[in-house]
This record gives sequence, C-alpha cells and structure tokens, in this order.
Amino acid sequence: MSRPTRPPRERAFLVGVSLRGKPQLLPLEDSLAELARLAETAGLEVVGEAAQRLTHPHPKTFVGPGKLEEIKALVEEFQADVVIFDDELSPRHLRELEKALGEKVRLLDRTALILDIFAQHAHTREGALQVELAQYAYRLPRLTRAWTHLARQTGGGGGRSGRMGGVGLRGPGERQLEVDRREIRRRMAGLRAELEKVRAHRRRHRARRRKNRLPVVALVGYTNAGKSTLLNRLTEAGVYVADRLFATLDPTTRRVELPGGHLALFTDTVGFIQKLPTSLVAAFRATLEEITEADLLLHVIDITHPQAGAQAAAVLQTLAEIGAEHIPILTVLNKIDRLPSPERAPEALAAFPQAVAISALRGDGVPELLQAVSEKLYATYAPVVVELPYEEGGLIALFHEMGQVEEVQHHRGGVRIRGRVPGRLVARYAPFVVRTAAEAEREA
Ligand code: GTP
Repeated sequence: MSRPTRPPRERAFLVGVSLRGKPQLLPLEDSLAELARLAETAGLEVVGEAAQRLTHPHPKTFVGPGKLEEIKALVEEFQADVVIFDDELSPRHLRELEKALGEKVRLLDRTALILDIFAQHAHTREGALQVELAQYAYRLPRLTRAWTHLARQTGGGGGRSGRMGGVGLRGPGERQLEVDRREIRRRMAGLRAELEKVRAHRRRHRARRRKNRLPVVALVGYTNAGKSTLLNRLTEAGVYVADRLFATLDPTTRRVELPGGHLALFTDTVGFIQKLPTSLVAAFRATLEEITEADLLLHVIDITHPQAGAQAAAVLQTLAEIGAEHIPILTVLNKIDRLPSPERAPEALAAFPQAVAISALRGDGVPELLQAVSEKLYATYAPVVVELPYEEGGLIALFHEMGQVEEVQHHRGGVRIRGRVPGRLVARYAPFVVRTAAEAEREA
C-alpha cells in the first residue's frame, strides 16, 4: 500500500563567510541563522552549513580551495540539492563555484534567494513587475548554465515569474547565451514601460488622496517584528500574518481612529533585512514611497529577538538610504508578552528609552501607543485662529476633519475657529488667519 506523499523539499546547504576587518551587522552565526529562515521561507529544507573567516574572498571561488573541498564533501554527504551563499556572489564566483560543485547541485546566493521569496509574495501588479525586473537585472550578468527558477522547483507561488520560464537559461552555448541576453534586455525594457504606466496611475491616485489626506503613519521594522499583527490589532484589518519572513510585500493601508476621534491612515510596509542589496531596496519603491511620504513612522522592534539592537540599526540605516530620515519616528517594542517579566525586562527596554512597549498579539500597551501616536502627530500641528467665510465650506470641514478644533464662534458671514492644523495645511489657511500661530499659542 502506498500512502500519498508530498514531494520532498529541496535540500539546502548554507555557506557563510565573515571577512576580517569588514564591519558586519550580525555575527556570522546569526547571519547564517537568518539565511536558514530565508531558505525555509522559500520552501527549502536546510540540511547543513559551513562557515569560514577570511581576510578577502578568494578571487575565483569566494571561499578558499580547502574549504571548497570540505563543502563538496558535505554537500555529497547530506545529499544537498542547492548550495546557498550568504553573500552576493559576483558572476565570476558563480561561474567558478558552479564548475566546482558540478552539474547536480544548484547554486544560489542570498540575493537570488530573497528575490525568489519576493517573487512568491508580491501581490500587486506593481510589486510583481518590480520583482520580475529585479530578477532579470540580477540574472543578466550571471547567465550561466544552471539558472533556473527556484519557485518552479520548490512548487512555491511564483506564478507571476512563470514568464521567465520561457527564456532558455539552461545549458546553452555562447551563442544561445547571447540570444538569451538580448531577450532578457528586451523583456526588461517592456517591464520598465509597463511599470511606468502602473506608477503613473498610482501617482494620480495618490495625488487625489493627498489633497485632503489624513495623516499617514507607516509601520516599519525588521522582517517578522510584528508589523502586520500590529496593524491587525489596530484595525482588525485581516492583513496576512505569518511566522515567515516577508509575509508582507505590498503596502496595506487602513484607517484607524486615534484618541480624540481623529482619523489616521496606518500603512504596513515590507520587512527590512540586513544585507538587502540597494538594488533590491530600490525595487520596492511602491512600499518605500509610502514610507517617505508618511507623517510618522512606527518603528516596530521584536524586543525578544537576541539581535534586536542590530536589527533596529539595519532598519534605521535603510531608512536613511531611502531618504526617510527626516520623518519623526516612534519606536515600538513588540512581543513583550514573551519577555519573562516585562516589568523587569531591563536592558532590552532601557536601550530604547523613548519607546512604547506593547504586545501586538495580546493588545497590551496598544491604547498607550495610540495616545503616543496622537501626541507625536499633533506635535507638528500649528496653532491658528482663522476667520472662514461660509463660502469656504470645504476649508471649514477640513479643519474639523484634520485639525484639532478648540473653539468655534459663528458670525453672520462665517465662522471663527481656534485650534490646530497639520503643518502641511497651514498654507491653505494662511489667507484667513486672524492671529498668528505664536499669538494663538500665547492665548491658548
Ligand atoms: P514581515 O511581513 O516579514 O515584515 O513580518 P511582520 O513584521 O509583519 O510580522 P508579523 O506581524 O507577520 O508577525 C511575525 C510573527 O510574530 C507572527 O508569528 C506573529 O504571530 C508573531 N507576533 C507578532 N506580534 C507578537 C506579539 O506581540 N507577541 C508574540 N508572542 N508574537 C507576536
């Protein structure tokens, strides 16, 4: 009798290198542990790993010749199908390593793996196009005999990348490679054009939204920190939550009521990760644009993670890289329910003195968080007293919706409102201001 069996998962062997003198965000072991999670997220089974400390990568094979022999023996022993390097390999390294490891083993690096996961998880048209473009850009200089698409092999989603299957990436000679390169360039041009159309559409949409928009709070954080869980907690929005890396690749936006009755838009973003090549970061403009236009960032940190500090640093570094460092940040320490004793969770919490501690899962600290968000958002509000004629019904409504109204007096021709408006709206009220911000402040 035969029982139905699931197709066996591909077996992955990991290789990590730490370079002396090159500052690393995570120690080698932690970086490899993260790579293992990435591999599992991509549907692979991790069967073994090897590590080496070097002064420079070996010019041909990245690792030294002795280490390479050791890896080959281990790959054979563990019957690994895939070897994954924790660092981005140059085209030459890929070529030489493929030669050394032989026909039966597929070679990937961290970037290719992350791209593959991205391909499996991109849910919007724009996200899918961006990933496909990034995949081609990565592949173009690296076309060698064995570049096949991981998603097809692991049976993972990846449907949108199916188009790539048409490109003859396996076993070609030089002429075939040239044909493939030309074909890839042609497809990249097509993807760029399509992407531009999608973006233009989104820009129009966003411009409309921004006109009278609600304040935007973007959730940022290292992958798996709990951003989606928090957004769910805040809105019961039903955003997909999974204990996997990069469960969220597309921005998801929800309206949330803050204490005092004001509304704000909260938007979830892609999880950050160390060693994410800048080219890949750039591929996620859809998510990142949401970040750079936010009024406030909630930096969600998994405070129970042994590398919480390094993860937080990686996030801040990426924020600086995408030009979001000017946006105010509220630090949120998540998963306090997992701390042995939250009251005595000393160093972890002490390291982030301005932060709000919460459990997105259980809801602890969430009211305090919303209060802090409200205070931070409105800290940028300008106090004004305006005299608005009734014809300016739009501005009157906008003040009530977006501002904080402290006092309203109706006259024959209009209404006098004392209160606060978001900094970005001050200019629109300028013609109607009867007292300057400073005067209003003194009066208040
Ligand atoms: P990416 O999509 O990878 O960026 O992840 P994310 O930051 O959106 O994390 P997500 O909300 O998917 O949560 C990751 C895992 O952490 C899930 O298993 C959650 O259930 C768990 N988690 C989130 N918040 C908490 C919390 O407050 N306490 C505990 N114990 N687990 C939590």
